[in-house]
Amino acid sequence: GRLAAPETIVAHAERALANPDLKGVRLVVTAGGTREPIDPVRVISNRSTGKQGYAIAEAAWARGAEVTLVTTADRPDPVGVDIVRVETADEMQHAVMQRCDVEVIVMAAAVADFRPVDPAGHKIKKTGAGVPEIVLEKTHDFLVELGEHKPSHQTLVGFAAETNNVLANATGKLERKNLDLIVANDVSAPQTGFGHDTNQVTILMADGSSSDVALMSKRGVAEAIIDSIVHARERQ
Ligand code: CTP
Repeated sequence: GRLAAPETIVAHAERALANPDLKGVRLVVTAGGTREPIDPVRVISNRSTGKQGYAIAEAAWARGAEVTLVTTADRPDPVGVDIVRVETADEMQHAVMQRCDVEVIVMAAAVADFRPVDPAGHKIKKTGAGVPEIVLEKTHDFLVELGEHKPSHQTLVGFAAETNNVLANATGKLERKNLDLIVANDVSAPQTGFGHDTNQVTILMADGSSSDVALMSKRGVAEAIIDSIVHARERQ
């Protein structure tokens, strides 16, 4: 036989050596920014790259979980993880709702809040009719739906990417969406959030406790998020 790729060997070694505190736990994580079509060649999207969601998928698998990653991002497939590729908020919603009977759901994706009402069937041309007006409608917030139908055995995790009033906004989302924990992320701070390899977050728990996670690699932040998930599950 051929030798496996180095990253595959490393991932299996990590899983063999890590504390298997998510063994037998099914975890669905979303990653990346959704892309909402304007016409066949143009989209409305956001600055999310999926790095934090992928890091969570990798860390969860290393700690023994059965992981499904629902992603818009074009990144190397994490070892051992089931991958479901989607593009729009609607596709992500359907992929997640079909798989929502699991112990842990982590909504790390930056899901569009608005999309073009009626995407053009053909490329919009600049000759002729002047400047197009793109009319938007709200997407369905399926994290709210997940929170409304949350089974008692499930831990539901949201993300709040904010530029101001970070903790107040995140606390509001935690309560409004019936989450067990929320990861608050100041995306305007240096070295933090979209596209960076590092992140700095505050994890807010439903019981009112919180933990500050210092600036570190997204894998390190992923491990801290999973520590909090394990903690929340122990008290369920
Ligand atoms: N989310 C979702 N479906 C949407 C939009 C967001 O599931 N259509 C999820 C995201 O994956 C994230 C969380 O909800 O985990 C936070 O979303 P956000 O858009 O920041 O929250 P809102 O309550 O819409 O607040 P805001 O006014 O900041 O948009």
